Amino acid sequence: MKMFKTLATAVALCAAVVVQARPLEEIQKSGTIILGSEGQYAPFNFFKGKQLTGYEIEVAEAVVKKMGLKYEWKTVGFDALLTGLAQDRWDLVIASHAITDERSKAVTFTLPHYCSGGIIVSMKPEVAKAADLNGKVVAVQTGTTYLDAVKKVPGVKDVKNFPTDEAARNALASKRVDAWVTDRFVAKEMLAKAPKAGFRTGEMLFVEQVASAVSKGNQGLADAWNKALKEAIADGTVGKISQKYFQEDVTCK
Ligand code: ARG
Repeated sequence: MKMFKTLATAVALCAAVVVQARPLEEIQKSGTIILGSEGQYAPFNFFKGKQLTGYEIEVAEAVVKKMGLKYEWKTVGFDALLTGLAQDRWDLVIASHAITDERSKAVTFTLPHYCSGGIIVSMKPEVAKAADLNGKVVAVQTGTTYLDAVKKVPGVKDVKNFPTDEAARNALASKRVDAWVTDRFVAKEMLAKAPKAGFRTGEMLFVEQVASAVSKGNQGLADAWNKALKEAIADGTVGKISQKYFQEDVTCK
């Protein structure tokens, strides 16, 4: 009995751990790809009322169309997105993840859909460069490359983590922190939208390539995505979406 119980537990454990990602053929058979995003990172992915939209949402929808598929969106907190891939909760994540060595151990990245980087935002002209962060309190979103970058800046007094990038921005707006590190295009859009809010952008801390991710080793899906993304870039579809959101081309040159 005891042995049977142990065996049953072992089988249940295996079933819980070994969840197979859907290969391209299976997705094609079902006709619909499940996409995961956050929905709280304007202008890349955000909700306009009940509608999920933004630069990378529109790019993803254009790519999926070229793949001959339908899509279904799922949105969760940024932190849960990559782990959700391993649990087969969605086939592909597109939520402004930069390609990093650390993440590449856990997921397979596609080609990038934009190139950008982390920038310092503050409300004081004297907080503009990396060296100015010495002795300062900096806000970032949890789990981002901004957190990793700020941790490496010498002398930073404290790095405050927030569940969303917006919450990190609000901490700066209410002067609970001295600076906020975010994406340069997020900052650009925010400054354009609220020119009187008193925010000012400083130095860029680093540059990065941003891509979508599939379950580790789901190469067939990544290849099909890459082919369709290349087409969407070549025929100007992505460029048009980029102009709409940023009035410039954010694809990687
Ligand atoms: N580009 C940064 C990173 O790779 C931030 C991404 C934040 N994305 C989001 N949906 N909030 O970590």
